Order: sequence, then structure tokens, then C-alpha cells
Amino acid sequence: MLDLKAFEKQTIPAMYEEAKDNDLKEIIRKQKEKLGKKLVLLAHHYQKDDIVEFADEVGDSLELAKKVQNYKQAETIVFCGVHFMAETADMLTDKKQKVLLPDMTAGCSMADMASADQLQVAWHKLEALFKETILPVTYINSTAEVKAFVGRHGGVTVTSGNAKEVVSWAFTQKKRILFLPDQHLGRNTAYHLGVALKQMAMWHPATKDLSYKGNLQDVRVILWEGFCSVHQQFTPLQIKRMRKLFPDIKVIVHPECRKDVVDLADDFGSTAKLIKLTYEAKSKDRLAIGTDNNLVGRLQKIMKEKGVFVHFLNPMACACLTMNRIDLPHLAWILDELAAGRVENQITVSADTTKWAQVALNKMLELTK
Ligand code: 13P
Ligand code: SF4
Repeated sequence: MLDLKAFEKQTIPAMYEEAKDNDLKEIIRKQKEKLGKKLVLLAHHYQKDDIVEFADEVGDSLELAKKVQNYKQAETIVFCGVHFMAETADMLTDKKQKVLLPDMTAGCSMADMASADQLQVAWHKLEALFKETILPVTYINSTAEVKAFVGRHGGVTVTSGNAKEVVSWAFTQKKRILFLPDQHLGRNTAYHLGVALKQMAMWHPATKDLSYKGNLQDVRVILWEGFCSVHQQFTPLQIKRMRKLFPDIKVIVHPECRKDVVDLADDFGSTAKLIKLTYEAKSKDRLAIGTDNNLVGRLQKIMKEKGVFVHFLNPMACACLTMNRIDLPHLAWILDELAAGRVENQITVSADTTKWAQVALNKMLELTK
């Protein structure tokens, strides 16, 4: 979880903030070369171009969780993404490997919508209502403590890249699931697996209550009332407007978008799937993409060379503010420190939390080999 004390302390020397981009890039190049194979730099697809340029591996959440395990020789993993991703990397790598996050304030507003304490309260109430018929399923976009709670209760983690397989498995274990923290990924996935909307209830963490109209015994999915601040900015009206302007356009969106947006789109999928669909487009095809605009902008540039028109589904959408906290000054600073033998911003998950979170993570990885 985002460490507020760290937030207050998180200032880097002004010389980095004031330096020119080219000078910062020179520092990053030099220190990467100096650190060699001892260092691996991972970046999520939503990072800025400036950061992606230096990544040894770029991926979505599922890809990065898998790829990090291929770098056994690396002493240090600099994770250009958000806090829960760095925690996951720490839990999936050897004890002696260090995971660093260039800016400790790079949290995830969605992950912060479900704390382990809130989950404990919810679980207590839901178990009283549904006895042992319920399994917790947490999006990988959650804190290590939440993952550990889920592992302790026989549950599993999930990413947008394997939601269908993992949720299908969950239904072979128990009659119903609690899906957290993203209500949209939970609703979209369950709906496409044949669960009717009338079989879905909502858990409200702020008021600590469950809302459902009907007979509680019919509930199959309990959705946690969380959302992604980036993907909730897409609306059906934007899709309709796009189609009015370009009748032949293909609209593709991420499943963290609202269900009415996913329903209206031509296709939907994880970040990796959206990229794959874009690369498959042919010359003169036209696509509108509903996901983080750092990525859409990059795809637009790449596909222009192939004669494919890529549009931002919502050009006014704010990018992920926390992903964007990872920038050239922070990356240059952390690498300078590392090259000088000083380890800054290490993300360390406690042994007990790791042990139980690994249960949920390993189950997911086993289901998506
Ligand atoms: P994926 O990387 O699973 O597509 O998730 C998107 C996201 O919001 C990451 O924070
Ligand atoms: Fe969190 Fe959404 Fe940003 Fe991903 S894009 S890190 S889910 S706020």
C-alpha cells in the first residue's frame, strides 16, 4: 500500500528535477551500462515513452509478473510501474533480489480502494450470510496484504489477461465469488462467463454493507465497489461519436471500463490483447482504443508507419497520474544512487505476507501457464 510517510519524505535532489531530459537520459544510459546484468529495468505499457525507451522488458501486469522470474541473475529490479506491481515482483523473485520503485508515491488509486482491514470486515459479514460457499478473488491490482488474505482463504489473484480462466476455475471451487477491488473487471468477466447481472451483488466498503435486490441465495458474484480512475473516463457516447465520424472504425477497450462501454465496443481485452489487436490491423484500418493514453499515443506513432489510423477513444482522458510519477529525474536519481552502492526505495513485503500472497499468485500462474 502507498506509504504516506514515504510520500512526505519523497524528494530527490533538485539537480535532477532541473536537469535537461538529454542529460538525464545520458545518466540513465551510463549507469545502466555500468550496472550491466546486475540490473534489470521493467516497465508497464502505461509508462511514458521516455521511460519505455530504457526498459529491458515492457509488459502488462500478467506479462511482467511472469517475466520478472526470468531474471535470476539480476541483483536489482528497477520497476517502472506502480507500487502493487513492485510488491508482486518482490514476492515472485528470490529473497536476495531487490526491487526498487523510482518514486514511492507511485501507488494505484484502485488498489488503495481495498485495504486488508476493509476486506476483513467484508469477509466477516459475507461469511455470515453465505457460509463456506464463497471464494475471494483479487485483481493483481491490490496490496500484498489483500493478496495474502485471499491466499489464506483458498482464493486466487487474477489479471485482466487471464480473468476468464481464473474466474472459471473459481466457480469450480465455490458457488460464489467475492471479486475485488475492480467492480468493472469483475462484472465484465462474470457476465461473459454467463453470470446474469441479477446474480451480482455489490459490496460497499465505505458503508460496510451489501446491496442486492432479490433472494440472496441467487447471488453468484459479489463485486467490490472499486474502479480505475483512468478507465472509468470512457463512455458509450464517446464510442457513438467516434462511429458517427468514422463508420468503419473498430473500437477496442480494456475490461476495467464500465460494462456499457465494453458492450458497445467491437472487442475488449487486457493491455497485451489491445496491443495484439492493434498490431494485427492492416493498412487503412481505423481503430479507437479505450485505455491509458501514454500507450495509445505510442501505438498511434508505431501504426502510422504501417498506414493504420489509431485514435484515442477519449483524447481528453487524464493519464494514470501515479504511473506518470515515474519520470526521467526519478529514474536517473535511483540509478545514480544504485551505482554509488546506495539502495533507495526498496519494496519489501514481509515473509508472512509473502508466504500467503504467493499461494494466491502461484495458483493464478499455474492456471495460466
Ligand atoms: P493490465 O496490465 O492487466 O492490462 O492492467 C491495466 C492496468 O490498469 C494496470 O495498472
Ligand atoms: Fe491503477 Fe488504473 Fe493507474 Fe492501473 S491505470 S495503476 S488500475 S489507477
